[in-house]
Formats: sequence, structure tokens, C-alpha cells
Amino acid sequence: MTTPRKLFIKTYGCQMNVYDSERMAEALGASGYVTTDTPEAADMIVLNTCHIREKAAEKVYSELGRLKALKAANPDLKIGVAGCVAQAEGAEILRRQPLVDLVVGPQSYHRLPELEARARSGAKALDTDFPEEDKFDRLGGRPKAARGPTAFLTVQEGCDKFCAFCVVPYTRGAEASRPAARILDEARDLVDRGVLEITLLGQNVNAYHGEGPDGTWGLARLIRELARIKGLERLRYTTSHPNDMEDDLIAAHGDCPELMPYLHLPVQSGSDRILKAMNRKHTAEDYLALIGRIRAARPDILISGDFIVGFPGETDADFEATMALVREVRYGQCYSFKYSPRPGTPAAERDQLPEDVKSDRLARLQALLNAQQEEAQRAMVGRTVGVLFEKPGRMPGQIVGKSDHLQAVHVEAGADWLGRIARVEITATSPNSLAGRLAAG
Ligand code: SAH
Ligand code: SF4
Ligand code: F3S
Repeated sequence: MTTPRKLFIKTYGCQMNVYDSERMAEALGASGYVTTDTPEAADMIVLNTCHIREKAAEKVYSELGRLKALKAANPDLKIGVAGCVAQAEGAEILRRQPLVDLVVGPQSYHRLPELEARARSGAKALDTDFPEEDKFDRLGGRPKAARGPTAFLTVQEGCDKFCAFCVVPYTRGAEASRPAARILDEARDLVDRGVLEITLLGQNVNAYHGEGPDGTWGLARLIRELARIKGLERLRYTTSHPNDMEDDLIAAHGDCPELMPYLHLPVQSGSDRILKAMNRKHTAEDYLALIGRIRAARPDILISGDFIVGFPGETDADFEATMALVREVRYGQCYSFKYSPRPGTPAAERDQLPEDVKSDRLARLQALLNAQQEEAQRAMVGRTVGVLFEKPGRMPGQIVGKSDHLQAVHVEAGADWLGRIARVEITATSPNSLAGRLAAG
């Protein structure tokens, strides 16, 4: 028997890349690869990359530089670049970094076995097509190995929104939804392997419009059908766009107990002028009204979001409008970024703000968002919530899991609780997590 080749994948960027990395490992499993956690032991290293901000993209080249020594030590080592930088830069990567053997875009990774064979034969392999065939059809069934209690499941991919700052419509292509039956099969399969919680993924997941057995299904219908799978206890979805938040999806937050009380709903800015310049096609008022309707359906829902500061043309008054919106929403968790000009996007061509202005605004916004996160955590103390335990904690005798509201919770309990959901009474809060004890009964 030949010893299997070893594959090391390093994942950057969003959850969809996490899902894609798993699927790439499965695709290469068919070529005889098993995964390893140590790059030094690998016969093939794949960087699954992100192009969203300049820093993310530059990381790839510095990581490739570090891999030089490994390639020198093992000339048979093959190095691949996958993901959104692969899609955006394609052959340029092979020119800029000759140690790369293989470049594969997010829509072509079902072709990895052929690309790997080409690279193995000594040629360079490049595939950044948006092929006609559906990669999910070509990937085949997922292996039956047991796995952890949570999983990502891509249901929709691509984006037609073209926000003026964003590369995703170019790297992931047009919006496409997977057929509902395939998603239900994949979910059942995950549950059979021990998964209790599934997070549905899409660049605009609530734009999901997949073919169902009785016509087109929206995300709410898909969620309700998934919720009927026995053993599937928790459902989440991300990332959603405010303009695709349809009535039945809002209703599902109120009447579908498996749908967890947490929603990531990015707005990017609180200034209508900037929202318009960003091509967001909604106002701050629209967003606030939407949050109101979602909270009416599920009062304890925790809202999270994304913000960009220092977008071209953003004045002090625009930035204050963002601060005002944040104060009104009261986020439970939030991500904020300095605007980063991305090649090929409209906003990159506009006059840019000085770096120190961006930095000051980011610091002020983050201070407010951190205070809100701490406030949301403090509000949990004394409450009893569901927690799905995922791993041992740093302290002996401690385990860690995520609450219904996606907050990290530490509890002193035996390892037999790992992979199970318990009721936990929250007793204390620290900046980034909660502590609690198993509730009686
Ligand atoms: N599809 C999702 C998120 C895509 S990217 C959505 O529409 O919300 C994740 C986040 O990165 C975005 O919400 C935005 O806040 C941030 N982002 C995207 N492009 C950026 C850029 N050029 N500079 C800084 N942040 C950016
Ligand atoms: Fe990017 Fe906007 Fe599409 Fe989100 S909706 S992926 S921010 S273009
Ligand atoms: Fe990054 Fe691509 Fe995701 S650019 S955020 S990895 S869709």
C-alpha cells in the first residue's frame, strides 16, 4: 500500500473559505491526500486566500515567502493558491512568486484533482474560470467520518450588489443558489456525523432563491425545512444584506425555535450620503426600521454588523451619523474596518482620506462598539441560556461553548459535555466571554 500524501491547508478570510477548505481537502482526498496540521510534513500546501482588504491580500505573498525554505528542503512539495486572491490575480501570482505550482479560483476547486496531477507532473496549473458546470455537483458525496458539533454549509454564493468598495462580486461571481434538495441531503449527512448546529453561508445568504420540489424556495422556507431534520438543534445564517430581509425570514426569527437569536446584518455606514456613494441602495432609516421589525419578532435577538470608516468623501458629520446609528442599534458584537482601496472597484478611483483620519475614526468607533459588546454580555448575567460545548477550555476542568446568542461561555464541567447542548446559568462576564454553571435539571 502506498502511504497517502499529506495536505496542509491554511485558510484566510470569511467562513465560506473555511467551508471551501474542507471541500478542497475532500476533493484531494480522492487523489490520495490526507490532511496534516504541520506544514513541514506536507507534500502539498494550499493557501486559501482573501482579497477583501489590502492587508489580507498582502499576507499571501509574505506567507509564500516563508514557504521558500520548506520548498528548498523538499523539492517535491507542491504549493497552491486558492480563494479570492487566486481569482483576482490569477497568472500574476505565478509570475510574482515562481514557487507557486497551482492557482485555483473559488468556482473551480472541484477540478483540483486534475490540477494537482498537472502540478505533480512538473507543469504549472491555473484555473480561474467560472465554469458552466456546478462545482457542488462535481464534488460528490462528503466522507462519512465523524466530526465536531458545528458545521458551515454553503447555500448561496456570489453577489450582484456591487457595493463601490467591494471585490466580492468580482472574485465570487454572480449570485447563484444551490438546489434545496442538495442542501437538505448535505445537512442530513452532517447530522448523521454528529453535527448539532449548522450555519448556512452565502455572500448574500438571504438572497437565497433555490430550486425546491414545489417551486423556488427563499431562505425562510429552507430554514423551516432544515429545522425539521431530527437531531439538528440549531440553525444560523450569514452574511445577510438589509435589502434581502424578507417578511417570512423576519417571521422565522419569531416562530422557528431552531433559528438562533443572533443576526449579522451589516450596514457599513450611518450616513445616507455615504451609503449612496457606497451603492448600498438603502438609507440609515431603512436599516433602523428593519432592526425594529426584527426585534419585534424576536426581542432578545443579538445584532451584529460591519462598518467601514474613512470611505472616500466621508466627512466628520458623516462619521458622527455612523456613531449615532450605532448608539441607536446597540450592537451585541460588531466588526469595523478602515476603508481599503481595492483594485478594479469604483471607490478606489476616488479621492482618498488621510490615513490618520481613518485611524482616529476607527479607534472611536471601536471604543463604542466594544462598550456595547460588554454591555450586551453584562445583560446576560443571571440569565439561563443554551450552550453547545465545542472544546476544552484553557484551564483544566473547564469547557467552552457558544451560547444561543453566539457568545463564548466557559463552564466548569466534564469533557463528557463536549458536543452536547446544556442549559447554563450565566454568572460572570469578562471582555470577550461569559462564565456560567450548568443549570439544575
Ligand atoms: N457580503 C457581506 C460581506 C462581505 S465582506 C455583506 O454584504 O455584508 C465583509 C465586510 O468587509 C464587509 O461587510 C465590509 O464591512 C468589509 N469590507 C469589504 N470591502 C472592504 C474594503 N474595500 N475596505 C474595508 N472593508 C471592506
Ligand atoms: Fe460586497 Fe456589497 Fe456584495 Fe456584500 S453586498 S459582498 S459588501 S458587494
Ligand atoms: Fe475574503 Fe473572498 Fe471571503 S475576498 S471575505 S475570502 S468572499
